Amino acid sequence: MKKTVSVAPMMDCTDRHDRFFLRLISKNVMLYTEMIATKSAIYGDRKKNLSFSPEEKPLALQVGGSDKKELSQVAKIAEDMNYDEININLGCPSKKVQKNMFGACLMKEPDLVSECINEMINSCNIPVTAKTRIGIDDIEDFNYLNEFILKLKEAGCKTFIIHARKAILKGLSPKQNLNIPKLNYEMVYKVKKENPDLEIIINGGITKIEEIKNHLEICNGVMIGRAIYQNPYFLVDIEKEIFNVKDHPSREEVAEKLLKYLEKEVQLGTKVNHIMRHTVGLYHGQIGSKKWKRYLSDNMMAGDSDFQKSKHIMTIVQNNEKANQANI
Ligand SMILES: Cc1cc2nc3c(=O)[nH]c(=O)nc-3n(C[C@H](O)[C@H](O)[C@H](O)COP(=O)(O)O)c2cc1C
Repeated sequence: MKKTVSVAPMMDCTDRHDRFFLRLISKNVMLYTEMIATKSAIYGDRKKNLSFSPEEKPLALQVGGSDKKELSQVAKIAEDMNYDEININLGCPSKKVQKNMFGACLMKEPDLVSECINEMINSCNIPVTAKTRIGIDDIEDFNYLNEFILKLKEAGCKTFIIHARKAILKGLSPKQNLNIPKLNYEMVYKVKKENPDLEIIINGGITKIEEIKNHLEICNGVMIGRAIYQNPYFLVDIEKEIFNVKDHPSREEVAEKLLKYLEKEVQLGTKVNHIMRHTVGLYHGQIGSKKWKRYLSDNMMAGDSDFQKSKHIMTIVQNNEKANQANI
């Protein structure tokens, strides 16, 4: 499975509705779920927490945990549910996650993580991958990172997604941890150079096609989070420039298909806002962006928004399309 470009796992963002929407725009990127804790995956409502539409594939399940038995159970569940990959979160710095011993704090526990990965690999036949940071707290040292990666490689992990900034567990909020620690792409490049046999996916602060191309000169793939969530149609540039796809859907076609999905989902009990909230950025940087956002916030963002209101959406879309074409 090729992971030239993937969309990052993002809590409260990359749920199944967002992924369905993104897949309408790009067939070639790899998608990731939001992180799910092992206990929720095992004991929670599986349909609600883990089900997805087949259109979303290829799709990886991201899990948070540090209990090897639980992690191996989740790996098996992921395989049984037809996910294409299981990814362990070793990069999340939130307090809650630290308390439960998963996420970035596990960068200080290489032996434990390696046992967990080994168990996961032994219990499923889909790739087990790791998403990590380049360092943690006062450790931003290539040798530490490389040793950590070597340990997980010995346990059988062959793919590493590396967010090119360290995590600071005390004193910074999760949001600050996405911006304040400095990006250090060189460290990720060095990991790739020292371990040419590993699949290394670089992540953090990537927002432009040129940047993707430059990273791909050295790394096997790039992972992008916020730039795609805020501007989902960026995926069309990625399809064109990175995957050389000539045909791409217009925003109008995307909206039409999404409305069909919305109608089907509403009949199954999904709330309108749970789907439409992910589309706020559809006209990012375009004429009509404000109108689009206003329409969504006035009609489709409340918990009890009425599906009938969505019927008017294509008028907004068509007006926006005309305005943008006239502007070319
Ligand atoms: C709202 C939000 C939620 C996130 N949730 C997760 C998560 O569940 N698992 C994870 O590994 N990383 C999570 N991240 C981090 C992203 O996966 C990614 O590593 C980070 O945003 C850097 O990439 P970017 O600069 O392209 O956004 C989250 C980031 C954001 C902005």
